[in-house]
Amino acid sequence: MSNDLSKKVSLITGGCGLLGQEHCKALLEKGAIVYSGDIKLLKSDRFHDEKNYKQVYLDVTSEKSIKSILNKILNQENRVDILINNAAIDSKVEKNSSIDFSRLENFSLSQWNREIEVGLTGAFLCSKVFGNYFAQNGGGVILNIASDLSVISPDQRLYLNDKNIEKKNQPVKPITYSVIKSALVGLTKYLSTYWLDGNVRANALSPGGVFIDQPSEFVERIEKLIPMGRMANINEYKAAIQFLCSDDSKYMTGQNVIMDGGRSVW
Ligand SMILES: NC(=O)c1ccc[n+]([C@@H]2O[C@H](COP(=O)([O-])OP(=O)(O)OC[C@H]3O[C@@H](n4cnc5c(N)ncnc54)[C@H](O)[C@@H]3O)[C@@H](O)[C@H]2O)c1
Repeated sequence: MSNDLSKKVSLITGGCGLLGQEHCKALLEKGAIVYSGDIKLLKSDRFHDEKNYKQVYLDVTSEKSIKSILNKILNQENRVDILINNAAIDSKVEKNSSIDFSRLENFSLSQWNREIEVGLTGAFLCSKVFGNYFAQNGGGVILNIASDLSVISPDQRLYLNDKNIEKKNQPVKPITYSVIKSALVGLTKYLSTYWLDGNVRANALSPGGVFIDQPSEFVERIEKLIPMGRMANINEYKAAIQFLCSDDSKYMTGQNVIMDGGRSVW
């Protein structure tokens, strides 16, 4: 079987979110045992029938929480092979009638810290704990989930949602998103060469935006920026996740795989 993951044990951070659930499904389909670690666990029974699926409370900002999940997985499975750093904060920036707090001029240090702590520090802490285990125990795979905005700047015209708002006050994609996603590429490269004797591979996957019934004006605008003329379907990253986590990609490390319908080429 290509992209075989049978008997591989994995942790997916933010595994209960929109794409995290797809990543869980991708690994389960290839035979992996999947631990989905999140601060918000699923109430639905989507994975009810999957004997190889377990969800666990994990806060990626806490080294203690990460270490306790590593120990839990080792107690139950005796091994772990794959870490997917996927957790992030979906930036919801407060707004009042006159000030948009997503804008750089108004972006607070506390909001900056909150987002960096999950998206970047969380990936660092999980890589530190799991990568070190991999290096001491025969190897493993780290996959960082970045974004097309790891290699291009956000086109802020996309986020103008009210024509009555002056351009200088319109909401924007916050600075933290670009900083976190670009930094994840640097983290990936660093990790890929750090444990040279430890057989630890690290790559990044940079997805473009997934279509989930966003407002039609937004979709029309973003489609014009994508050579393929559409946003991604939610299941279109599955094969890439399977490939990057399996031995089929065993000669690949330190790379940022960009799957964005060609958006970053234009
Ligand atoms: N959805 C997209 O179109 C898209 C596009 C490109 C990249 N991405 C990236 O893919 C990843 C997943 O995105 P998504 O759309 O599924 O987002 P999402 O908000 O649905 O999922 C993120 C998950 O992370 C969890 N999380 C937040 N803080 C955490 C913490 N401290 N510890 C553990 N888990 C925590 C959340 O509870 C949530 O379940 C993110 O890194 C995102 O930036 C998404």
